[in-house]
Amino acid sequence: MDCWEGRVLNIIEIIKCKRDQKELSTEQIDFFIKEYSNGNISDYQASSLLMAIYLNGMSEREIYDLTIAMARSGEIVDLSDIPGIKVDKHSTGGIGDKVTMVLMPLVAACGVPVAKMSGRGLGYTQGTIDKLEAIPGFRTNIDMDEFKRNVRRIGISIIGQSDRIALADKKIYALRDVTGTVESIPLIASSIMSKKIAAGSDKILLEVTCGSGAFMENEIRARVLAQTMVGIGKRAGKETIAAITNMNQPLGKYVGNALETMEAIETLKGNGERDVVTVCSILGAHMLRLAGVDDSVVNNIKRIQGKIDSGEGLEKFREFVSRQWGDSRVIDNPESLMTAKFKIPVNALDNGFVSSMEAKNIGQAVVNIGGGRQKKDDAIDYAVGIELAKKIGDEVKAGEPLMYIHTNKETDGLMQVEMLRKSVQISNEPVEKIKEILDIIE
Ligand code: URA
Repeated sequence: MDCWEGRVLNIIEIIKCKRDQKELSTEQIDFFIKEYSNGNISDYQASSLLMAIYLNGMSEREIYDLTIAMARSGEIVDLSDIPGIKVDKHSTGGIGDKVTMVLMPLVAACGVPVAKMSGRGLGYTQGTIDKLEAIPGFRTNIDMDEFKRNVRRIGISIIGQSDRIALADKKIYALRDVTGTVESIPLIASSIMSKKIAAGSDKILLEVTCGSGAFMENEIRARVLAQTMVGIGKRAGKETIAAITNMNQPLGKYVGNALETMEAIETLKGNGERDVVTVCSILGAHMLRLAGVDDSVVNNIKRIQGKIDSGEGLEKFREFVSRQWGDSRVIDNPESLMTAKFKIPVNALDNGFVSSMEAKNIGQAVVNIGGGRQKKDDAIDYAVGIELAKKIGDEVKAGEPLMYIHTNKETDGLMQVEMLRKSVQISNEPVEKIKEILDIIE
């Protein structure tokens, strides 16, 4: 039972309810989001409520109500004038995660419209928008009309996330960041899903990354987050599937904006690393299933791989780049994106087999050499990044490179070498390669 029972809505009562482990009513949650957004509730009272939620959790119904209230606090995108079932894809973030750039043209080449809002990188992860903007001329700051026109004409467009989406989430996220309340599953799930619901797609595919390079290091928590978000999507009438992906090492061979774009193009040309191809094929298959193409995941994997083999995925990417003002010549010459002045090896000190990696440190090293942001408006150096020479399970000899640092400032690059070397553990015993997809939750 909720603790409102028709009394006057009041933030102090709401805080006390959550403090005393009672359920908040829909009205109380709506009141909090509306009044906090309007500046009628102070940060100290909002912080107190967030901490009570962090400590005492929320029921499924409360999490859903919070999500919907936050979604309604800003603009709701209307994609209903674009024909077909629109399936959005979201990743909770990882290192070397170029999946969106590969997956979206492949799905569009299968006839499913792709209308995607993406974010920029923050902290130790890079965002799809930054990776695409590494292509000379490429623009994601297009307006909604151009975005929709592109989807109608060529089946694909990607736009930077509007500042007007889920306005309450922006304010609450900034507060969580400074009050020790980021790591609450009800707050993370409602934050992500409020933006997905407001972005207007019919169905949602989530990639919940898990491991040393992910927001969720622990698999149990990643599963709970995935189940919570799938539950919210269902209640909102937007069928949602979550794939839990392994982020105990970077995905693919490159980490860094332009380097990852180059790798995405190579993957669309059929030269992809096994892990990137596996993740894109399986996620793509589930997107096609959500879009009603075919219920069989096996058939859909074949469809996705067929679009790599035929080159139709690459051609769709070329069309997409041209239409968003980018120089599509990079598609024929992706190495032109590899322009950093220095390539510094990080060599192994021992013989053995790579047994684990601190993927987060690899992402942080890219930020340290200029490839990421500490603050939202920081400028970034697209060219810099890390090239992995070895991955978990590979044999290595002392003196052989584990990875290379691509940098424009040699001293900054050299300063990362020891940290990166220590981020790779080497064992005497052979080690198995890691599984890319840990589970699918639906
Ligand atoms: N990403 C979001 O959008 N919100 C969170 O709370 C965490 C990750």
